[in-house]
Amino acid sequence: MAGEKVTIVEVGPRDGLQNEKRIVSTGDKLVLIELLARAGFRRIEATAFVSPKWVPQMADHDAVMRGIPPRPGLTLSALVPNEQGARAAIEAGAQELAVFASASETFARKNTNCTISESMQRFKPVLALARTHGLSVRGYVSCAVECPYEDAIQPSAARWVSEQLLDLGCAEIAVADTIGRATPDRVDAMLAEVLTSVPVAQLACHFHDTSGQALANVDVALGRGVRIFDSAIGGLGGCPYAPGAAGNVASERLVRHIEKAGFRTDVDSAAMDLAVDVTISFRSA
Ligand code: HMG
Ligand code: MG
Repeated sequence: MAGEKVTIVEVGPRDGLQNEKRIVSTGDKLVLIELLARAGFRRIEATAFVSPKWVPQMADHDAVMRGIPPRPGLTLSALVPNEQGARAAIEAGAQELAVFASASETFARKNTNCTISESMQRFKPVLALARTHGLSVRGYVSCAVECPYEDAIQPSAARWVSEQLLDLGCAEIAVADTIGRATPDRVDAMLAEVLTSVPVAQLACHFHDTSGQALANVDVALGRGVRIFDSAIGGLGGCPYAPGAAGNVASERLVRHIEKAGFRTDVDSAAMDLAVDVTISFRSA
């Protein structure tokens, strides 16, 4: 197949479904993940081993992770906030972990009840466990451009948090426009700064699409050499602790956009559309 490869990390089962008011059944989540795997997504963030008191939509994390049949070439990851989550995720069969930090102190507090520095302390045992089990860890930098509580975030703050995550041993850094309000010029400024510390092959971009700017932001990141992007099937998504955050950029729009630009994703569009159909029934009334 022609074209340079762009990797898509499908986060719909986690970032998408964590924000739906309606709690989707475990069986329906498993059907969705199966359809995504059949469509060719090779990295799927399947669930979050977070506190069910904080995010009840992810309370069935154990059953979801254990319910997905292993498939060659498919990596299933789990979002974890601390050692407790990491232990449970590994026991349930997660093949990759993702920790989540923030470039905004206020968002760190609202989302995880701790400061940015405290979150790094919590991640240390997560990275140690992952090393013991031979798993790689992705580190998110939420609010890398905009914060629902602090507004504009300095690019230097996104770089500093990225450096902390790399120093802890994260193999990949995912900079996130958590509330989907970032503009291409601000994304470009943030990436210019973060790329002084993070090798481009280790950088992923995670855009939400509240302002309809996600694909323009993808273009900016492609121009800077980024080749890993997150998206959620059906444009599901948001964060319960980020008021105003709408869905992630839709996988079906991202795949078509990236392929039109001459890259390949190895995702089968017709099979992907079957997964899109399933998400329609998940939407909160
Ligand atoms: P806390 O209340 O400060 O924690 O929450 P704690 O250590 O005091 O524990 C309180 C209770 O939670 C205890 O249970 C623990 O056992 C339990 P109790 O004794 O009360 O019965 N607990 C857990 N249960 C299950 N799994 C765990 C776990 N840890 C503790 N791992 C904590 C701190 C971090 C746990 C909490 O704030 C939390 O779970 N936050 C998660 C919030 C979240 O999931 N937000 C959405 C994901 S982030 C996001 O969407 C952004 C992203 O998409 C990128 C972007 O767009 O920016 C990644
Ligand atoms: Mg997100």
